[in-house]
Amino acid sequence: MIETSPLHTEIKRLIKASGPMPVWRYMELCLMHPEHGYYISRDPLGREGDFTTAPEVSQMFGELLGLWAASIWKATGSPQQFRLIELGPGRGTMMSDALRALRVLPPLYQTISVHLVEVNPVLREKQKATLTGLRNVTWHDNFDDVPEGPSVIFANEYFDVLPIHQMVRRESGWHERVIELDEEENFVYGTAADPTPGFELLLPPLVRAAPPGAIFEWRPNTEIMAIARRIRDQHGAAVIIDYGHVRSDVGDTFQAIARHSFADPLKTPGLADITAHVDFDALARSAEAVGARVHGPVTQGEFLQRLGIETRALTLMQKAAPDVSEDIASGLKRLTGGGRGGMGSLFKVLGVSDQSTPALAGISDEHTGDKTGGA
Ligand SMILES: C[S@@+](CC[C@H](N)C(=O)[O-])C[C@H]1O[C@@H](n2cnc3c(N)ncnc32)[C@H](O)[C@@H]1O
Repeated sequence: MIETSPLHTEIKRLIKASGPMPVWRYMELCLMHPEHGYYISRDPLGREGDFTTAPEVSQMFGELLGLWAASIWKATGSPQQFRLIELGPGRGTMMSDALRALRVLPPLYQTISVHLVEVNPVLREKQKATLTGLRNVTWHDNFDDVPEGPSVIFANEYFDVLPIHQMVRRESGWHERVIELDEEENFVYGTAADPTPGFELLLPPLVRAAPPGAIFEWRPNTEIMAIARRIRDQHGAAVIIDYGHVRSDVGDTFQAIARHSFADPLKTPGLADITAHVDFDALARSAEAVGARVHGPVTQGEFLQRLGIETRALTLMQKAAPDVSEDIASGLKRLTGGGRGGMGSLFKVLGVSDQSTPALAGISDEHTGDKTGGA
């Protein structure tokens, strides 16, 4: 028998009552259960928490995204009202750094209203503390509640926490992957008895030919379509930054992180961050399907370099004490570099605009194109 948590007991009860539970439902409960969900009950970020995100690595990340937003404001004709919307803003660090960078542009800074879409009450309090005294900030439970108008939408490490379906290829077709109980009442993976009718018709051609045993992951496209529709109709741009792959493919990326290490997603319900890689190909196709224009993806390293992160690092280092200077250099390496712990190539950046915007800074610079080369 594995170590139990209150959520483990609750999920076991649900499986006994209703049978095997699809992976998406398990993930949803682990993250969003009204009482024990991981994102309902805690601040998971930073050295003391379970993982560190790019804005927590270095102020340069948020500053450059602030300047990126300024380029979108200009490209949309410098509107009198401009919204900065962030989905899943963590501790509010990125927004705070972005706003600080934007203070140097008073004509834009005066037009900004900030909208944070956040479900986590603990993080909302942190965001309030971080952003107190800055421009009008409003919190929303849902993206659809954000008032209309031209905007920039930020989503950093947001899509990876949205629940995924896992489908397993069998001779009989594609079956939903489920979680069930073994004889000792541990959670184990299984597959639904019957295939999902017609599922293969929804798959990209390469994935349709996958061999038995292959796993394909997909997320509902509700969120990306809502973002794309808003940008299509009300102008501005969205930037989605996350770990993931450039082309839809088979593979099992369902994972748990606790205390900065990988954990078993089935052994830590409600106690670890449970995520899966983002399929940027699927996001791009969904955004295009509603008539938005897609830019990239490019790697995070390439995006930040094109926005001038190296120059910004040098400027900060010139004024810094030697130990702070070392921190800036290691932040730069972590945000832009590859290898162990490096976010530069694992993370991708996708831009969404309306059809009238031909290029987005850092993403669709014509001379560089897409150099990600797959995930
Ligand atoms: C991995 S954290 C990323 C935080 C932040 N963007 C950063 O980079 O530091 C995920 C964020 O999304 C929020 N979140 C998770 N599920 C959400 C949902 N369904 N709606 C809105 N926010 C959500 C979490 O509370 C958290 O703020």
